[in-house]
Amino acid sequence: MKIVMIGTGYVGLVSGACFADARHEVVGVDRDAGKIDRLHHGEIPIHEPGLDALVAANVAAGRLTFTTELAEALPGAEAIFLAVGTPTRGEDGHADLSYVFSAVDELAGGMTDYAVIVSKSTVPVGTGDRIEERIRQRRPDLAFDVASSPEFLREGSAIADFANPDRIVVGTGSERAAAILRAVYQPIARDGAPILFMSRRSAELTKYAANAFLATKITFINEIADFCEKVGADVDDVSRAVGLDPRIGGRFLQAGPGYGGSCFPKDTLALLRNGEAFGSTLQIVETVVSVNERRKRQMVNRIVDACGGSVAGRRIALLGVTFKPNTDDMRESPSIPIARQLGELGARLSAYDPVGRARAMQLPAFAAVDWHDDPLAAIDGADAAVIITEWDEFRHLDLAAMAARMAQPLLIDLRNVFRPDAAAAAGLTYLSIGRPRAAPAGADLADGPDGMVSIPHRAPASA
Ligand code: UGA
Repeated sequence: MKIVMIGTGYVGLVSGACFADARHEVVGVDRDAGKIDRLHHGEIPIHEPGLDALVAANVAAGRLTFTTELAEALPGAEAIFLAVGTPTRGEDGHADLSYVFSAVDELAGGMTDYAVIVSKSTVPVGTGDRIEERIRQRRPDLAFDVASSPEFLREGSAIADFANPDRIVVGTGSERAAAILRAVYQPIARDGAPILFMSRRSAELTKYAANAFLATKITFINEIADFCEKVGADVDDVSRAVGLDPRIGGRFLQAGPGYGGSCFPKDTLALLRNGEAFGSTLQIVETVVSVNERRKRQMVNRIVDACGGSVAGRRIALLGVTFKPNTDDMRESPSIPIARQLGELGARLSAYDPVGRARAMQLPAFAAVDWHDDPLAAIDGADAAVIITEWDEFRHLDLAAMAARMAQPLLIDLRNVFRPDAAAAAGLTYLSIGRPRAAPAGADLADGPDGMVSIPHRAPASA
């Protein structure tokens, strides 16, 4: 089947390449001529494991092509996917649908035959209705359907997530559209993933509800981690034990510096605004958004406290800056407020990230950072090292070598990469999230009652 994929960002490029790999004929369309030019030269604009090989193989097989000209791509297409960005609009939290509507207007001008237009972009409930009205107004003659089929892939594991989905969601009231989308997804659903057909609004809401629930799970365990610190409990033990109850499930229960990325922060906010527009209050989501924002800003207090109350003039090494491992995406990364506030407080920053450097360097928060090509070089002579992103390679760091190279052997691990006893044995004073702190024998630990970790509740520094 011929598929047009409008947008060659994370979702569009991965989905397009995977559909092509499933033996569909796919044309990826993007207005950004530079991007299309790079794709024509085999350059992948994002860092996503396996994507370069997948794109290359399918381009070589003639199943995947790219163009800036939508009109050229449309003839013969039965399914047209919208995979354009829906970022937060200004400061009001609403999803910005301008990319969606501009693609829709172009479609209304260029379509000649029936096709189903499918939103893969994450959009507020009711957007499908608006798209349909918009096209119908301009083209009362045109036969078409508008469906919603949200995407659940994660950056860093996008190809595996797309190719082996837990479920495929299709929202449409049209038999004709349903039949086309069944054929589109059939090769991917072959391994047993159910295709769930539902109304368009239910599909739109499913995506927001899924992301908001995952964000809630993370925020919940982060609060439990704070409580663990007060009482000397270990959040990793608690999380594991809680998660083994299948009613709860162990995934997305890893405590950390707060969720970031291009999806959870924007989608939780957009869900709130979408709820308001329909007169529905989503109090839990509202709390999750504010608790997570506060948490990201508070991380710097931990670092300052660990450094004895001031970081002025101290050398602090940041290990990992992307919002999660296996991506170069910096959007809403917890590292941004951390770097910005540490800089404002007078710290001298060095950093290492396997792939995030180029994007991070474009952000003002990282303007004065001294970048290094390996983690040990970044921590050389540092007064503290802070793990912000749990890149796999950090798990293999030689802790004793780290301790030996630092001016002060202080490791603040915001992702619980290491075991406290192993870090202490290597000579490091070690602080992690929701676990008792650890230090080499003889080192002074206690800053709270009974030697427990006590992070003072301060007003968050300005962000
Ligand atoms: C998220 C969803 O997981 C995908 O299902 C969805 O398709 C995608 O958003 C989207 O809407 O496009 P993504 O943002 O790529 O995917 O990354 P996640 O793996 O979900 O991580 C998001 C944030 O949560 C990261 O900052 C990560 O460090 C944090 N996180 C995740 C935790 O702090 N703890 C966890 O246990 C899991």
